[in-house]
Amino acid sequence: LLDQVDLQRLPRHVAIIMDGNGRWAKRRHLPRIAGHRAGVQSARTIIEACARLHIPALTLYAFSMENWRRPRAEIDFLMRLLREYLRKELPVIHRNNIRLQIIGRSDQLPKAVIDDVERGMAHTAGNTGMRLNVALNYGGRAELVDAFNAILQGVRHNGVHKNGFDAFRVDEQMITNHLYTAGLPDPDLLIRTSGEMRISNFMLWQ
Ligand code: FPP
Repeated sequence: LLDQVDLQRLPRHVAIIMDGNGRWAKRRHLPRIAGHRAGVQSARTIIEACARLHIPALTLYAFSMENWRRPRAEIDFLMRLLREYLRKELPVIHRNNIRLQIIGRSDQLPKAVIDDVERGMAHTAGNTGMRLNVALNYGGRAELVDAFNAILQGVRHNGVHKNGFDAFRVDEQMITNHLYTAGLPDPDLLIRTSGEMRISNFMLWQ
């Protein structure tokens, strides 16, 4: 497959909405959780492939704010799966010089998950290769709310515009600088694994 790839025309930031797991499992008469397990295997393959191709950034939409509406048992399973993934794969991620970053309101995740993702981020913080963003408890609208609040916080701290608050305006650059993915190229390839063509509150600013 590598022979067919034009290495001069690679995306700089790939974003993936990882869905279709349930349908994948149903087609095979398997439980939904088997689909999620297969989804993690695909994620591993994609992470390795992107790192080998020197793609600067990969963002995986793993758990949306809307996903809390799923049955408790499925949520618990997904959280366990994520922790298991981190435990097993962190050495591989680190060896591949990948820097792990969690995006989303991760402070609202279960404590054990927060501990694991923080350990993973700290462990890989000095890596200089691909940036791997895992979106957890992520919502595109919430990201914009967080960006605007961070801008307002800056205004409160650094004082208002020289002509007073009335003259203060938010501009595009300010918003860009306060997104979870600040400093990274904008995604130039968005894949939704189920094949659906909706973006479902993912990176709405794109
Ligand atoms: C949504 O579609 C998918 C999820 C809620 C879970 C996706 C998360 C993972 C595969 C685990 C994340 C792991 C890593 C390593 C980042 P669906 O699966 O419910 O499928 P459907 O659209 O067919 O119902």
